[in-house]
Amino acid sequence: MVKLHNEMLFTAELLEEIREQFAFVNMDPLKQKKRLYFDNAGGSLRLKRTIEKFAQFDLIPDHPQRNHEAAKYLAEVERKGIEDTRIIFNAENGSIATYLTASQAIFEITGKIAENIEGTNIVTTALEHPSAYDSAKYYAEKTGKEFRVAKTNPVTGGVDAEEITKLIDSNTCFLSVIYASNISGAILDIETIVKEARKIKPDLFIIVDSVQHAPHGIIDVEKTPVDVMNFAPYKFFGVRGCGVAYLSERAASLPHHRLFGKENSDLQLGSPVPAHFAAISEIVDYVCWIGSKFSNDQNKRNLYVKGMKKIALHEKALLEIMLNGTDKVRGLRSIPGVTVHLDYEDLSKRDFIVAITIKHLDFPEAVRAYEAENVIVYDRTASSIYSKRMLESFGMEGAVRISPLHCNSVEEIEEFLEVTERIAERNESGL
Ligand SMILES: Cc1ncc(COP(=O)(O)O)c(C=O)c1O
Repeated sequence: MVKLHNEMLFTAELLEEIREQFAFVNMDPLKQKKRLYFDNAGGSLRLKRTIEKFAQFDLIPDHPQRNHEAAKYLAEVERKGIEDTRIIFNAENGSIATYLTASQAIFEITGKIAENIEGTNIVTTALEHPSAYDSAKYYAEKTGKEFRVAKTNPVTGGVDAEEITKLIDSNTCFLSVIYASNISGAILDIETIVKEARKIKPDLFIIVDSVQHAPHGIIDVEKTPVDVMNFAPYKFFGVRGCGVAYLSERAASLPHHRLFGKENSDLQLGSPVPAHFAAISEIVDYVCWIGSKFSNDQNKRNLYVKGMKKIALHEKALLEIMLNGTDKVRGLRSIPGVTVHLDYEDLSKRDFIVAITIKHLDFPEAVRAYEAENVIVYDRTASSIYSKRMLESFGMEGAVRISPLHCNSVEEIEEFLEVTERIAERNESGL
């Protein structure tokens, strides 16, 4: 396994270069002391350049839709940012639109499809984030359509393609499905889901929530020709305050709120924010920079894919170490008092998220115990609207969610395992 790890992990030099580009990678931002930040699924570590570029361009007061030099400069920043966003989605056609959050993107676009596409039912899954689930439910009720929910698979932590396709028929208005779960980390087989669903209804509209998966893997609307995909820059090494969506040509041309003087496919309302696009360009350039360490390809999408594949490989190696340990420390699977949930063997089907329970500690207590050891993780409990439905679908009461990032090192995972062992040992007796 060690040899395999060495092939999968970034070299020490490259990892050092990567870490230098992130803020607070091993530092508490307030206390200025060492910490492990393992809540990247809640908001990822930031690439410093995304924030710097955001500030640099947002300081400029000029309106990008004017004709003077500074205005044209900002318009060019925006144009390039949209082009780079297309690199992330691999979308040569269709539209790119920004919203205040990824949730807002899904609600708006789900509404457009539900209100304009014929059909008597809407299909989604029990694994969705509330933004996708609740928007599908809201519009099913509003338009009088049947609301159908595919069940989860407690072994894989995902949803099987057949569970979804068996709910689809020629009267399905749209399918809304998550790419990867922000609770279990399970990556759904979107390629098969799209292919099989469209065998049943060839022109089925499909919405895919990629907020969790986009920072850890490749998304590709050419390969999986869906109508809507989104991501959230703040979970993708970037800035808060923006949700980004791709819309297919037919989705973008449905009746929508718009300024009639603009192209029908232009979904932007109000003044553009070049700074957000500048920050997205920095994310894309960063992933391409990793790609360029392994390839001489000059094509930007190819470099991006290479970089993302390397990110995913490094994360898989760290995930394997977290589960099985090293010669120095035990992995989560063998620490007494620790239960790893939804622990599917095939790691290629998992993003870097692990859900655990520590015996005799409730979830908020466990999170506090980690914080006392300068480790940030998050408790997912059935009392939260962001977790309840998904946890119950797996028959779970809750979990401590651990979500590191590709800029973490083997040593940090070992440190985390040592901390976990200490916490579990301290609480073993339950006294
Ligand atoms: C899978 C998934 N989808 C959607 C969202 C919503 O993103 P936003 O906070 O930008 O609305 C989240 C946020 O936690 C998420 O994890």
